[in-house]
Amino acid sequence: MYDVEQTNPVGITRTVVRSRPDHFVPATADGEVHSMRVRDVHKSFGSTHILRGMNLDFADNAITTILGPSGTGKSVLIKHLVGLLAPDRGDILIFGQDIWKISEAERRELRKKFGVLFQDGALFGSMNVYDNTAFPLRKHTGMREPEIRELVMERLSEVGLEAAVKKFPSEVSGGMRKRAGFARALVMNPDIVLFDEPDSGLDPVRTSLLNDLILQMHQEHKGTYMVVTHDIRTARKVSDYVGLIWKGQVVHYGEAEAAFASDDPFVRQFLSGESAGPLGMD
Ligand SMILES: Nc1ncnc2c1ncn2[C@@H]1O[C@H](COP(=O)(O)OP(=O)(O)O)[C@@H](O)[C@H]1O
Ligand SMILES: [Mg+2]
Repeated sequence: MYDVEQTNPVGITRTVVRSRPDHFVPATADGEVHSMRVRDVHKSFGSTHILRGMNLDFADNAITTILGPSGTGKSVLIKHLVGLLAPDRGDILIFGQDIWKISEAERRELRKKFGVLFQDGALFGSMNVYDNTAFPLRKHTGMREPEIRELVMERLSEVGLEAAVKKFPSEVSGGMRKRAGFARALVMNPDIVLFDEPDSGLDPVRTSLLNDLILQMHQEHKGTYMVVTHDIRTARKVSDYVGLIWKGQVVHYGEAEAAFASDDPFVRQFLSGESAGPLGMD
């Protein structure tokens, strides 16, 4: 583990901890609390070992892209981070709290720090775009409707959906559903935002627009963002940091620029999507 001064695109300089997968990373000596830490996490479903000793300290206030082939456990990792799945072994630390060593009530409280954009947007089909976006506020806060309205309209206009408030998910395009999901993920002003393949099912132009939106919203609202993708272009565009998942472990984590310039054959093959190299199909 080593500490490094890092200035993010918003101009905030802070010390972040960088880890290598072969290291078990202890708490920092300065006692600084990091938003998300994954410690030696294992998870099996039946006899299939999915997460196999995963270690990752996310850089705070930065966008980390997690890349990995499909079926490697990226969505499973997201569910662990938000406390929807419990690890068989290992720890998930959110702002220094081990989410499986606290009460259910505390865990529910901790979940409010997260905004999650699930793969399909996960909107409620029976609610229009406005009500979908208002849902977390109505559920988790005592806010009154006028206050809710102000926040919801602000978020929806940021994602360019103010004209679609009355539309139901089935009446809008895939790209608009993603944007609505994004507005809903941000409406509670979360410290951490997790995106599960925001680019899936979108054409290259819409993917590019959504990536712009991710960057823009990160500048605006800050926070620790994790973007799961298997699209190298998305990773190139939005990442401050890149994590590579292979066979249930984080095999590389570091600054995006360095990762994309790396001459490590493993990292190169991963980030170029080439079939020749040390990575096989097994
Ligand atoms: N709740 C579950 N029960 C059983 N198997 C699961 C469950 N969730 C995920 N899996 C399996 O774990 C593996 C990793 O899944 P996932 O995290 O969704 O992959 P991806 O990296 O594509 O997001 C897959 O083989 C999937 O079938
Ligand atoms: Mg997935």
